[in-house]
Amino acid sequence: MTTPRGAEPTNAWAVSLLFRVWSRVYDHPLPQRLYYRRIHHRIARRWRPSPGERVLDVGCGTGLFLKSLAADHGALPGLALTGLDLSEHMLEQARHAGAPASAAHPAPTFVQGSVYAMPFADGAFDVIVNTISCHFYLEQVRAFREIHRVLAPGGRFFCAAITFGPVGASVAGVAVYHPPRVLAAHLREAGFELVGEERVRPGSVLFEARRPLG
Ligand SMILES: C[S@@+](CC[C@H](N)C(=O)[O-])C[C@H]1O[C@@H](n2cnc3c(N)ncnc32)[C@H](O)[C@@H]1O
Repeated sequence: MTTPRGAEPTNAWAVSLLFRVWSRVYDHPLPQRLYYRRIHHRIARRWRPSPGERVLDVGCGTGLFLKSLAADHGALPGLALTGLDLSEHMLEQARHAGAPASAAHPAPTFVQGSVYAMPFADGAFDVIVNTISCHFYLEQVRAFREIHRVLAPGGRFFCAAITFGPVGASVAGVAVYHPPRVLAAHLREAGFELVGEERVRPGSVLFEARRPLG
């Protein structure tokens, strides 16, 4: 069953509570170095950012991916970086400290909101990334459709997800870990064309998808 447009699935309060607590320790260097940063680097390597691209990180958390892009690709003029997250507590951390900004390299903008109803115009972004967040999207096709809406025709979508082999897993109605073939089917159902799929860490897969031009 799908909830009406704009309405949140039942896990929203639990996700907000989880990240209210987790935000206090989320940036701890050990998990970041061993897991998250490696995934962020794999995406940046696959994508190869170009000057002027409009970039959205959906479920950006504490904004570490966007900040690393701002730092690593600081020489690129005009990468416009936006992060969106459900959790105001994660965003507080994101806004707290960032790469030094300048007129040519503005700091990322962080916006509170949900993947199901994003406050952006149709086709507003050239590249969208989504790392280790989509297991919280109980209505995953609906979430991917909204991502498809705000991506420009021909735009690229990088989605890194946790998987548990060929069988999915559900945790207390808060998170659902789909197997890769189901994730791929959800992306296609939302209108994406699949360009690539790779294992990025044990139990984690990265999809590269594209919004078709037509
Ligand atoms: C494990 S964190 C990953 C954060 C970041 N992408 C990273 O790589 O470090 C998952 C994030 O997804 C966010 N999230 C979960 N459900 C969401 C939703 N419906 N809309 C937007 N963000 C959501 C959470 O608030 C949390 O910050």
